Parts: sequence; C-alpha cells; structure tokens
Amino acid sequence: MKYLVINGSPHKGNTWKLVEYAVSYVKELDKYAEFSPHREKVDVVYNDMGWADGLILCSTTFNMRETALLKNLIDHFCYLMHRPHFFTKKALFITSVGGVGAKGAVKSITGSLAAIGFNRCYSYRVGTASWNVYKPNEKVKKQLRKVSEKFCEDVKGKKMHYPKSNLLIPYNLFRGMGRYYAPGTEYEAADGVYWTEKKRVARAYDKGIPLHLYQRVIGGIFCFIGKTAGKYMVVTYKK
Ligand SMILES: Cc1cc2nc3c(=O)[nH]c(=O)nc-3n(C[C@H](O)[C@H](O)[C@H](O)COP(=O)(O)O)c2cc1C
Repeated sequence: MKYLVINGSPHKGNTWKLVEYAVSYVKELDKYAEFSPHREKVDVVYNDMGWADGLILCSTTFNMRETALLKNLIDHFCYLMHRPHFFTKKALFITSVGGVGAKGAVKSITGSLAAIGFNRCYSYRVGTASWNVYKPNEKVKKQLRKVSEKFCEDVKGKKMHYPKSNLLIPYNLFRGMGRYYAPGTEYEAADGVYWTEKKRVARAYDKGIPLHLYQRVIGGIFCFIGKTAGKYMVVTYKK
C-alpha cells in the first residue's frame, strides 16, 4: 500500500521520534509499503494525499492545539470542506505534549480530516515531560505499535466504514445549496460544478462509502434544508 508522512511540527523533535516508530511498525506489517518523499508545496501535498492509501500526520502540541504550521496547511485545504475528497483514505495522527493539551490537537486534526472526507482517523498522543530529549519507554512503544497496526490493517483491508452521522449535516447542506452556484448562475463557483455532478446529486454521501438507511434519511432532510435555505441566502463571490 502507499503511505504519505507529513511532519506538521517545525522540527524533528519528540513527536518525530514517535512517527519513526509508527512508520517502522507499518513497514513491518506491510512489506510492500511505499513512502512518498517529503515535499513542500501545497498542491504537491494534495496530489500526494490523493496518491496515498494511508496518511501518517504528526504535530507537536503547541498551546493545546496543533502547530500553526500544520493549521496553515489545513487552512489551504479549507475548500475541501466544501468539496470533500479522500473518502477512501485512512489516517494516523500522532502528537506529543509536555504535559497537558494533546486532546485539543487530536480533536482539531481528526475533525478536520473527517470534514475533508477521510474515512477513518486513528490517533496517538503522549506526554513527554521533555524538550527534544524524549525517549519513548516500552509501554509507549507497545501502545504506538498497537495503534499503528490497527491503522495499517485497516489500510490494507480496504474496508470502508460508515461515516459519522454528524458529517452528513454539512455534506448534505452543501449538496442542497450547490445547485445555486452551478455554471450559468450569477455566482457560479467550483462548488456548483462539484455538487451538480451526476454521481453526487442523488446520494447522501460519496457512493464508495456505505450508508445506513437512517443516514440516507438524515441526508435527505439536510439536503432539503440546504435547497430551501439556498433560495433565500446566496453566498456572494467577488467576480
Ligand atoms: C510553543 C510551545 C507550546 C507548547 N505548548 C504546550 C502545551 O500547551 N502543553 C504542554 O503540556 N506542553 C507544551 N509544550 C511542550 C511540547 O508540547 C513538548 O515538549 C513536546 O513533546 C515537544 O515535541 P517536539 O520535540 O516534537 O516539538 C509547548 C512547547 C512549545 C515550544
């Protein structure tokens, strides 16, 4: 399988040490794993995310969140929240923290990845009480091995999981509203092209992902709300 590793920290410190372990665990389990070399430009990262089956992403916890560096990359991808991609992809997010606040970073990153379509996001967080001289102990390595193996098995197994129902709310509001931005409308935009594609108009989530019946109903309701609200509230774009 193919994996992309993104270092969201400004250096290769404590968090990177953990990533090196995670990568070695994945390599042990997936003998044919291919890793993309580090690239710098956003569009190249986007292409690599499309190329990879599994994404290993890390960031130090700075002030109870991900680094500004990683937030900046995610902000560059904010258009993907309007037009999610990556539905078949799985991710593993790793963060280290001096003591407290890693939960905030995990919540922020796993939420952002789910919003741009990622099917499942695993995470591992650890307190280091250290600045750059951290040595993971056996317990940490065991825990990290367990989560790395779960992630790798999931990537290799290619099983698509049902999405969380809360993701269907923005997805289907956009699906309902997208028609008002289609080519030929006053404020035509890329969103309008995406949401009027045949494969998207009739389904409450991407066609490659399974949905429960009740999720189809939720999707239908929010699509209707988006369609109705979109008649009265047009988002204007500078022409
Ligand atoms: C700017 C900055 C902000 C930090 N914020 C926190 C924090 O909110 N909570 C905490 O417990 N440790 C905090 N730390 C400590 C780091 O999270 C911790 O040392 C981490 O393991 C360093 O990982 P790295 O070597 O990969 O950068 C902060 C460190 C820096 C430099």
